[in-house]
Amino acid sequence: MYNPLKTVDLNKENPVILGIETSCDETAAAVIRGRKILSDEIASSASIQALYGGVVPEIASRAHTDYVAQVVENAVKKAGITYDDIDAVAVTYGAGLLGALLVGVSFAKAFAYALNKPLIAVNHIRGHLAAAYLDCPLLKPPFITLLSSGGHTAILHTKTESEFEILGATLDDAAGEAFDKVARVLGLQYPGGPNIERVAKDGQPVIAMPKMLKGGGGYNFSYSGLKTAVINYCHTKQQKNEPYSKADVAASFQCAAIDVLVEKTVAAAMEKGVKCVTAGGGVAANTYLRESLKAACEQRGLRLVLPEKRYCTDNAAMIAAEGLTQYRLGNFAPMTLTAKASIPLAATLETVQSRAARKENE
Ligand code: KG4
Ligand code: ZN
Repeated sequence: MYNPLKTVDLNKENPVILGIETSCDETAAAVIRGRKILSDEIASSASIQALYGGVVPEIASRAHTDYVAQVVENAVKKAGITYDDIDAVAVTYGAGLLGALLVGVSFAKAFAYALNKPLIAVNHIRGHLAAAYLDCPLLKPPFITLLSSGGHTAILHTKTESEFEILGATLDDAAGEAFDKVARVLGLQYPGGPNIERVAKDGQPVIAMPKMLKGGGGYNFSYSGLKTAVINYCHTKQQKNEPYSKADVAASFQCAAIDVLVEKTVAAAMEKGVKCVTAGGGVAANTYLRESLKAACEQRGLRLVLPEKRYCTDNAAMIAAEGLTQYRLGNFAPMTLTAKASIPLAATLETVQSRAARKENE
């Protein structure tokens, strides 16, 4: 009989959490003890996806099915623990590609059931926000978080480990999405972000880019105008048969896309009187962003906690880190848990469930 909550100790100082992440093209599993990473495994189908210029959902799902059991086993082995040592299994249940998520959720449910361990449903975005705790285990809110991934761009005021206020978000495309689309126009392979960064190293930000949403947009962002301007610039040059420097385009786009992120993040910290800034999501792996944010924080006397690059892009250690927060709150998931392609930015399973229950009662 599955009844893990009978024996769970919510006050255990450093619970061991197994994290599983399969929301996109990375099959990842990690083990943490408290906020210490014991192991962190990733198998990626990105090189196969690159052949198609982006993530093909069916290929991602099939790759997860092929890899997930081995990746979890490796993570447990490398952590130097036994299955019995695991206190809870945390899995990304949304947002992401439905078929891809389903593989992780189904595996985590079966795994938790077989071992009679509590199951925790993790919002992928909350995982990105929690990555900062792995970099700095003593980190305590409040802080301002810059979230910048392939699907989201937002500035959040993190008030406690589980409460966030969204100060602003993108009104259209996410920053990462803009990097990916611009990369495609420049003939660079998926994923676009790292390739734009590589090519931009040989260029200068000399091409005029449209003004990004500045003060008028509050802490909101808009990337569609910038993306369209770059696409138009390249197409016009191509139609006129005029040569242009891809490196300069990449550098100019990178500066425009990132300067606004840094500016608004620091402004939010100053306005809210918060002394610490963190960042998460794939775009936070960008070296120009990391250096600019570091310089801007230093200039204003703000402390910056920036997860290592590999913990900015998708990984399972961050899912386990958010799992730890939910563990401490006793927010466990039922065996009826299912994957969700879209959930509100900072929602937990609990908030999604109570909203659904409210709707049913209406
Ligand atoms: O957080 P993430 O790994 O997955 C999502 O949750 O979306 O973010 C992926 C996004 C992609 O759009 C990718 O191009 C971008 O992050 N990215 C970067 C860099 N590395 C990944 N963007 C700019 N510079 C990078 N070095
Ligand atoms: Zn992500």
